[in-house]
Amino acid sequence: MSNRYAIILAAGQGTRMKSKLYKVLHPVCGKPMVQHVIDHVKSLNINDIVTIVGHGAEKVKAQLGDSSMYALQEEQLGTAHAVMQSKEMLAGKDGTTIVVCGDTPLIKGETMEALFRHHEETSAKATILTARAEDPTGYGRIIRNEQALVERIVEHKDASESEREINEINTGTYCFDNKALFEALENVGNDNVQGEYYLPDVIEILKEQGETVSAYVTDSFEETLGVNDRVALSEAERIMRKRINETHMRNGVTLIDPANTYIGSDVKIGSDTIVYPGTTLSGETVIGSDCKIGPNTEINNCEIGDQSVIRQSCAFDSKIGSEVNIGPFAHIRPQSEIHDEVKIGNFVEIKKATFGKGSKASHLSYIGDAEVGSDVNIGCGSITVNYDGKNKFLTKIEDGAFIGCNSNLVAPVTVGKGAYVAAGSTITEDVPGEGLAIARARQVNKEDYVGKLNSKK
Ligand code: UD1
Ligand code: MG
Repeated sequence: MSNRYAIILAAGQGTRMKSKLYKVLHPVCGKPMVQHVIDHVKSLNINDIVTIVGHGAEKVKAQLGDSSMYALQEEQLGTAHAVMQSKEMLAGKDGTTIVVCGDTPLIKGETMEALFRHHEETSAKATILTARAEDPTGYGRIIRNEQALVERIVEHKDASESEREINEINTGTYCFDNKALFEALENVGNDNVQGEYYLPDVIEILKEQGETVSAYVTDSFEETLGVNDRVALSEAERIMRKRINETHMRNGVTLIDPANTYIGSDVKIGSDTIVYPGTTLSGETVIGSDCKIGPNTEINNCEIGDQSVIRQSCAFDSKIGSEVNIGPFAHIRPQSEIHDEVKIGNFVEIKKATFGKGSKASHLSYIGDAEVGSDVNIGCGSITVNYDGKNKFLTKIEDGAFIGCNSNLVAPVTVGKGAYVAAGSTITEDVPGEGLAIARARQVNKEDYVGKLNSKK
């Protein structure tokens, strides 16, 4: 195997997206398109990866980090001009270079590997990854001669009516003999409808020099979809979603309605977990086995143990243990840590709070900036009063404490181990372990109040 290099084209603004966000940073199943491309390319044996950046260069670099080297294309004069920007890094090196567009997030690593192999076997100077499209509108068309050999590529905008009838399209992915690529690039002009330097013109240049140019036809057009507008973006999302969901189902996860289940590319789910419709799982979320998640649940960047149930709820950036029961309609906000066998019931909001094993907040509570021990019972409507308008303060509720309904715990405050807080209390001082705090007005009963009222009338 020869040396392998990769060039990712990611400098365009993506005018057709009509967006403030640079095209290649638009997410597909929660991950920017260009990141999908890099992740696939990284699965090949590549010596150097160079990403061509321009519009939003800093943001693209921040996204991809050190998984790639970068070349800056200051002005976007076309795809050939873009590749040319990597000249200093790559020209003169022996080996094969794959060029991939940053807006084709669905091309699999195995398809790129097949392209590499086909290219190396045929000893071609250039091999184009092509596909047959039902509707080829917008794509470059592959022009073949009478012997069915590839002659050149014509862009949709430059194509004649009969050329537009051709349904074999350029996917925008190619393998080149690296030296031949950079030599041919010197001869690419911009005499076309768009006034751009087209990378596809390299094919015709090499062909005219008598070099072998070849095509590798993939039977999956779906994989090669180029995202130029929001319609294509939603199509890519649909295809990627199907791919991700099928992988989970094959791994033993039940998705009741895969078409309405939205799982990010990096989410992990254990076997025999059931995901109900309308659920979005995103970021670095890891869910254990035998859980029940959803319906209509949103979970981002959470780690969840086994046999937990989360119904109609939201959870973000938190750790949730095993046999935990959450919802319906609970909100787990960032930096919460919920240990095993905890119950968080309906209309309970948790923020930056730890819940020890077996504790419960079953209904209508706000627990923020709190350390809740194990086997604590938090009664309906209890609230940690954590904020004085300027600063946040900590509430500690120690193991086995019992907080009566409708209590306010005004932080900073500690309720000691096994202590009781009477219902309706506003607690402003620490409660000693095993003690009882009652902090409310005494009840007064007025006997025969109604009788006296009536006699006055
Ligand atoms: C390109 C191909 C077309 C192919 C299609 C496949 C050319 C001229 N046309 O068309 O044959 O069928 O992809 O999806 O190559 N870019 C730069 N710098 C530039 C211009 C573009 O980095 O100056 C990047 C873009 O960010 C994008 C990629 O190159 O990621 C492709 O550019 P785009 O404008 O989407 O080309 P298409 O019109 O889709
Ligand atoms: Mg494109």
